[in-house]
Amino acid sequence: MEPFRHHIFVCTQEKPEGVACCPASGAWGLLGALDRELRSQGLDDEVQVSTCGCLGLCDDGPIMIVYPEGVWYRKLKAEDVAEIVTSHLRSGNVVARLAWTDAPAMKAASKEHRDRYGAMVKAKDEAGTLPDDLDQTIRAYMPSRTLLTALELDIFTAVGTGGSAGQVAQKIRADARATEMLLNALVSLKLLQKKDGIFLNSAATMRFFSAGSPNNARDGLLHTANIWHRWSTLTECVRAGTSVATEGRDHGWVKNFIVSMNRNATERADAVIKAAAPGPIRRMLDLGGGSGAYSIAFARAIPTLESEVLDLAEVVPLTQEYIRNAGLSDRIQARAGDMLRDPLGSNYDLVLISAICHMFSPEENRDLFRRAYQALAPKGQIVVQDFILEPAKTAPRFAALFALNMLVGTRAGSSYSEPEYETWLRKSGFSAVRRVRLPGPSGLMIAARD
Ligand SMILES: C[S@@+](CC[C@H](N)C(=O)[O-])C[C@H]1O[C@@H](n2cnc3c(N)ncnc32)[C@H](O)[C@@H]1O
Ligand code: FES
Repeated sequence: MEPFRHHIFVCTQEKPEGVACCPASGAWGLLGALDRELRSQGLDDEVQVSTCGCLGLCDDGPIMIVYPEGVWYRKLKAEDVAEIVTSHLRSGNVVARLAWTDAPAMKAASKEHRDRYGAMVKAKDEAGTLPDDLDQTIRAYMPSRTLLTALELDIFTAVGTGGSAGQVAQKIRADARATEMLLNALVSLKLLQKKDGIFLNSAATMRFFSAGSPNNARDGLLHTANIWHRWSTLTECVRAGTSVATEGRDHGWVKNFIVSMNRNATERADAVIKAAAPGPIRRMLDLGGGSGAYSIAFARAIPTLESEVLDLAEVVPLTQEYIRNAGLSDRIQARAGDMLRDPLGSNYDLVLISAICHMFSPEENRDLFRRAYQALAPKGQIVVQDFILEPAKTAPRFAALFALNMLVGTRAGSSYSEPEYETWLRKSGFSAVRRVRLPGPSGLMIAARD
C-alpha cells in the first residue's frame, strides 16, 4: 500500500569539484522547478519528493526516479519538469525522450563510473593526498567569510534588481576589481546569479539579505560578523583559557546582538511556552531577557501575567522599545541591573533563564540558580533554556562548537551538559527536575520550588 500516488527520488549527492555529480548538473534547480510545478498542478499532496544519495549514473545527471513505475529519467533540465508532471504524473504517460530504459547500458555506465571514481580515490590515497572531507573542513571558513563580508558591505541591497560590478562597487563605495571578485564568488556559492555581466539576487538573498524586505535578517546576522573577529583569536584563547578580546562593544554591536537574539527568541517562544505549560501565573522574572521577546510571548499567552525583564543598563532602552512596540508596557517592566550581583526580587511564579548560563562559569550558574530559587514563590517554576550537551560533551555538534564561541567571547562561559544543569538545580533546592528536548539547537531544563 503506497501512501502517495507517486514517490520521486532526485539524486543530490555532492562530489568533489571536478567530479561529475547531479548537483553540479543542476539537481537543486530541478528540485525547485518540481516543487513549483507540483504545487501549481495541485499534485503536491499526492506526489512525495525525496532527495537521495548517488544512483551510480553521475555522468548522466541529474537523475530522477519515479515510483511505483521505477522509471529513470536522466540529464533533466528545469524546463523538462512541466512535461513530466503533466504527461507522466498526471496522465500516466512516461516521457520517452527523457527516460532511460536500456537496463544493460545503465548497468554498464554505472560500473564504468564506479570503477573510474574508485580508481581516482585510490590514486589520491596512494599519493598521500589530503582527503576531500578534511580539506573541505579546513577551508570551510571561505564561503562563510565571503557571505559575512557581503552582508557587512550590504552587497545584496546594492545588487537590488540587477547591476554590473561597476555599478555595485559605486553603490557600496568599494574597489571595482575587488567587488567583481566578491560578486563572482557569491555566484559560485549560488547566492547571486550572473547574466551577461549583470549580477542578480536569488529569491533567498532578495528576501533575507536585502533592505526593504520584511524578512531582511541582515541586522541580526551582522552579530555573527562581529563575533567572527573573536573566533580568529581562538588559538590564543585556548592557550590563555579565557577570552582575549580587547575590542569594546559599541551601541551598534549591542543593537545587532539584541536583534539577533530577538529573531531566535520570537521563533522559539511558542515551543518554550508549550513545554513549560505555566498555567494562569501572575508574575514572571525574565533574567537577561534581551529584547523581551519571551516576556512578550508569555504575556500574550497568559492574560493574567506581569513580567519583569532584568538586563544590563545598555540593553534596557532597546528592551523597552520592543515592549512598547508590542503594546505591553503596562504588563512588562524592564529593569537595569546585574543578575549576578543585584537582588532578583521575590514571589515570582516563574523565573526564565534563557540563553544565559553559557555566559557564566559553573560557580556563577550555581549561585544564580540558588538566588532564583529564593526569588520564586512556593511551587514556582524555573525554566532554563540553553544549548545542552550530552554527558560526554561531544554532542550535539552545535553545542560543542558553541562552547568555543563562549571561550572566545567571555571570561568563563561554556556550553554545559544535562548532568551539570541537573546537579546545579538540585543543589539549589529544586525538585521535579526534567529536561525537555525541543526542535532546533537549544533545549530546556525545568524544575520547581517545593
Ligand atoms: C544571549 S542573550 C539572551 C537574551 C534572551 N534571554 C533570549 O533568550 O533571547 C543574553 C542577555 O543577557 C544579558 N546579560 C548579560 N550579562 C548580564 C548580567 N550580568 N546581568 C543582566 N543581564 C545580563 C545580555 O545583555 C543579553 O541581553
Ligand atoms: S551523483 Fe547523482 S547519480 Fe551519482
